[in-house]
Amino acid sequence: MKKILEIKNLVKSFKDKEIHKDISFDLKAGETIGLLGPSGTGKSVLLRSIIGLEEIDQGEIYFHGKRIDLLTEEELYPIRTKISYAFQNGALFDSDTVFENVAYPLFEHTKLSEKEIELKVVESLKIVNLENSLELMPSDLSGGMQKRVGLARAMVLDPEILLYDEPTAGLDPSNIETVVEVIRKFKAKGISGIFVTHDIPTAKKICDRILILKSGKIAFNGSVEEFENSTDTYVQTFLSGQ
Ligand SMILES: Nc1ncnc2c1ncn2[C@@H]1O[C@H](COP(=O)(O)OP(=O)(O)OP(=O)(O)O)[C@@H](O)[C@H]1O
Ligand SMILES: [Mg+2]
Repeated sequence: MKKILEIKNLVKSFKDKEIHKDISFDLKAGETIGLLGPSGTGKSVLLRSIIGLEEIDQGEIYFHGKRIDLLTEEELYPIRTKISYAFQNGALFDSDTVFENVAYPLFEHTKLSEKEIELKVVESLKIVNLENSLELMPSDLSGGMQKRVGLARAMVLDPEILLYDEPTAGLDPSNIETVVEVIRKFKAKGISGIFVTHDIPTAKKICDRILILKSGKIAFNGSVEEFENSTDTYVQTFLSGQ
């Protein structure tokens, strides 16, 4: 399969605090990677680095073979329509309706008519089963619904890659199941993903490959089957639910 994203020898520190010492991996077209690691190992920082929200100190990031880590904000703009980031808490605009929240990237990045935007928003909200909540405000929604609106917004521009930051954290089993179904629908559309999580059962259900961070490096990179059969003690702490 074709590589669509390549991370090469990424190094990232905040002042004297070294977060990533040497991170290399790639994401193939259509693949979903589960990114695991204890709290504070830099999973969110890694996702933010990929789309240029964090400047890296060393290393290279390629999207379709084109280097993207040296791009300016302006040059990153079109890249961020192709690589979309679903924030950890949904990050909805509190004073905007569900419709306005999901429509925002379309107004920002496209020249579609209002009618076309409405169709796209409804299509995205259908995928997350919220097509009847257009006029609600974020404060009217449960945490699980807010995350689903965040997912609808993240996919409304038809990205090639979705970066999911803990989309199932803090959700009850029924909402987790809904998010799993949503991610499966994205996969069926051919969208690749990096799924950051502490939720191992869900990672096993939706991921093709598992990566585990440890002390600024990738301690494990293998298929779900290899993950489950690993005899490495660090890997096993994840399997047993930490
Ligand atoms: N802007 C920043 N300035 C300084 N330090 C930061 C900044 N952003 C993150 N960090 C630090 O980088 C480290 C990694 O943070 P990050 O949020 O990526 O962890 P994480 O693996 O996503 O953790 P969790 O599983 O709890 O979400 C943490 O020690 C954090 O305090
Ligand atoms: Mg995080």
